[in-house]
Amino acid sequence: GQGRLWGGRFAGGPAEAMFELSRSTQFDWRLARHDLAGSRAHARALHAAGLLTADELAGLLRGIDELDARVASGEFGPAPTDEDVHGALERGLIEIVGAELGGRLRAGRSRNDQIATLIRLYLREELTVIADGVLAVIAALTAQAQDLLGVPMPGRTHLQHAQPVLVSHHLLAHAWPLLRDLQRIADLRGRLDESPYGSAALAGTSLGLDPEAVAADLGFAGSVANSIDGTAARDLTAEAAYVLAQIGVDLSRISEEVILWSTHEFGFVTLDDAWSTGSSIMPQKKNPDVAELARGKAGRLIGNLTGLLATLKGLPLAYNRDLQEDKEPIFDGIDQLRILLPAVAGLLGTLTFHRDRLAALAPQGFSLATDLADWLVRRRVPFARAHEIAGEAVRLCEARGIELTDLTATDLAEISPELDAEVLEVLTAPGAIAARSGRGGTAPARVEEQLAEVAELAARL
Ligand code: ARG
Repeated sequence: GQGRLWGGRFAGGPAEAMFELSRSTQFDWRLARHDLAGSRAHARALHAAGLLTADELAGLLRGIDELDARVASGEFGPAPTDEDVHGALERGLIEIVGAELGGRLRAGRSRNDQIATLIRLYLREELTVIADGVLAVIAALTAQAQDLLGVPMPGRTHLQHAQPVLVSHHLLAHAWPLLRDLQRIADLRGRLDESPYGSAALAGTSLGLDPEAVAADLGFAGSVANSIDGTAARDLTAEAAYVLAQIGVDLSRISEEVILWSTHEFGFVTLDDAWSTGSSIMPQKKNPDVAELARGKAGRLIGNLTGLLATLKGLPLAYNRDLQEDKEPIFDGIDQLRILLPAVAGLLGTLTFHRDRLAALAPQGFSLATDLADWLVRRRVPFARAHEIAGEAVRLCEARGIELTDLTATDLAEISPELDAEVLEVLTAPGAIAARSGRGGTAPARVEEQLAEVAELAARL
């Protein structure tokens, strides 16, 4: 009962520094509840195989429940002598039911299959929380999109004015990657739905234990088909790290725009007081720290993924202790997103958009040049020539420091005989926006359709 699950073949105990390196309770203790669930299922499997009497099973289950209560209340926790969560919990169980009964539970299982199972149970639970957080960000984006329907803004490529778009269209463009993140989570949940319990150390369970029964007991759809794969594979943890990193990257891209939009130069949005911070020296400052922390944490989440992949790449089968290094990046990713997602949702949901400024800027920077060319195309001018003519119009405006909409009938006729004052009627941001009416376009009717699509998909995910 010392929290170390081995020792018989060793003449003495481990060196202090060796044990310090080996010890994982400081991070794997968060899996305690899942390990206890595994122990209940395993005890029932031992009973089903005739290795525990009904009384012994009942005694073990009572002991596990008592230990569960002590863990939940904080009465029981890992001791400095416990190597890992499994060892600590065996010590705790033996304290309650005695060494004779408590010592029976370890038969036919290994920490290798336990830990591989626990991380799946953990991810199954935590990914639900992360998905809810992502949904809250999507809800903030769609609420703003709904509220801002009809407001034009400058659409950009290369960060340069490109074509006018609806603010709602732009905001929804950030919702779609997040919806795909939710789909990724749903996909991953399907792959996580196989229990490695019963893989034992690597070769499979002995003693007539039934992995399928344990899997069902733990709420998995089934058990793994290959015990070596069950204990040694970590592609699923890497996939989880990827999904967390991708969510981070998606939040970071939104955040970068909020940071730009809230500058004096852009002046697109004002941050709510509750979701911004001040400066200790500059009294006027209102800083977009939520967005900056999102951008910063994305780097950290990417690091978690790449670190984990680097750990995995050279590992021979089956279990290697390197695999213990998969926990912290995953836990960190979950912890960071649990903090970050509600803050980003709060930031986005409370942004005040400056509609007049957005609308005023939308047609500026020659963003209607494509519409000028398209107008010529409708007049049967080949697009290549239309492009040239529109380009010349831009050049003239640039030289004079005016916008395309400032051109007079005389200017237009001078640029090309194919141009006349009628073109000015299509040179408005709302006109340009309404013209993009194909599926996926920024026309108001399409954006309203999109809003409905987002809501419908979000409700299913
Ligand atoms: N703590 C280990 C991990 O996180 C599981 C225990 C396996 N230990 C062992 N010596 N085989 O992967």
